[in-house]
Amino acid sequence: MSARAGETPLLEVRDVSKYFGNVIALKDISMSVYAGEVMCLLGDNGAGKSTLIKILSGVYQPDEGDYLVEGRPVHFHSPRDALSEGIATVYQDLAMIPLLSIARNFFLGSEPTVGVWPFKRFDLRRADRVTREEMAKMGIAVRDTEQPVGTLSGGERQSVAIARAVYFGAKVLILDEPTAALGVKEAGIVLRYIAQARARGLGVVFITHNVHHAYPIGDRFTLLNRGRSYGTFSKRDVTREDVVQMMAGGEELEELGHELEEFARADTAASAKLAEVGRAFEAESRAMSQASDVREQT
Ligand SMILES: Nc1ncnc2c1ncn2[C@@H]1O[C@H](COP(=O)(O)OP(=O)(O)O)[C@@H](O)[C@H]1O
Ligand SMILES: [Mg+2]
Repeated sequence: MSARAGETPLLEVRDVSKYFGNVIALKDISMSVYAGEVMCLLGDNGAGKSTLIKILSGVYQPDEGDYLVEGRPVHFHSPRDALSEGIATVYQDLAMIPLLSIARNFFLGSEPTVGVWPFKRFDLRRADRVTREEMAKMGIAVRDTEQPVGTLSGGERQSVAIARAVYFGAKVLILDEPTAALGVKEAGIVLRYIAQARARGLGVVFITHNVHHAYPIGDRFTLLNRGRSYGTFSKRDVTREDVVQMMAGGEELEELGHELEEFARADTAASAKLAEVGRAFEAESRAMSQASDVREQT
């Protein structure tokens, strides 16, 4: 499905598959994300969401299919490769150091320094200013950038990670279940930052199993179920209820399948039992009639 005719998506996968031994984690999945849109990846546990974003972020390579960044085929060998193409991933565990300050975490791995070697040191003032400015752009007033990250709420920590990715030049922001562990209010905060990132022209891949978080913010939805795609839907073509139904539909069908299997198994077990009883009964009646034959002969 072409979401925007004539425009090249920031990233796109075509018919990618990923196998772990016998497990088909993903089969023929296609999806894309354009600048200034939120693309939601929806699916239940085990659907293949994490596997797909690990492909997008360079952790895994697809076993089959193509990966294109702004129309160019790419072969990432590590998350660093993806990052250098402007594809930043914020994982649930966030890769932050709780005891370090907000500013330190903001610059983790790319610290601004002052002075010349061997007198170089972390440029605290610049870090403080940039962190404050970037957080303000996302609509967060940081009281004290020296505050340890561990003292922030889950939603605030996510927003630091998002602001950091945006500042360091991310074009695509991949968020793996950023709202899963959060309460309603906190989830709302994160959804607002996602909207800010979109407003700044980023493409956002938002992974969640919660339709109620995805629907208000999403522009398009790709539904995964047991490694397969149900397809991609634009918000203008589906209502929230449609999406809920599609997800529930998959679940219900699966449940029904399990139930039928269970029935069949129970059925097989019951007929086996019946057959056994029948054979025993037959044997018994044979034995009885033989016994009566014997009696009659005597
Ligand atoms: N490293 C792995 N080795 C073997 N199987 C895996 C591995 N990673 C994921 N899987 C399997 O692939 C399927 C999809 O998993 P995952 O991508 O984590 O789903 P989701 O994130 O949607 O819950 C599951 O059946 C899971 O057990
Ligand atoms: Mg997952």
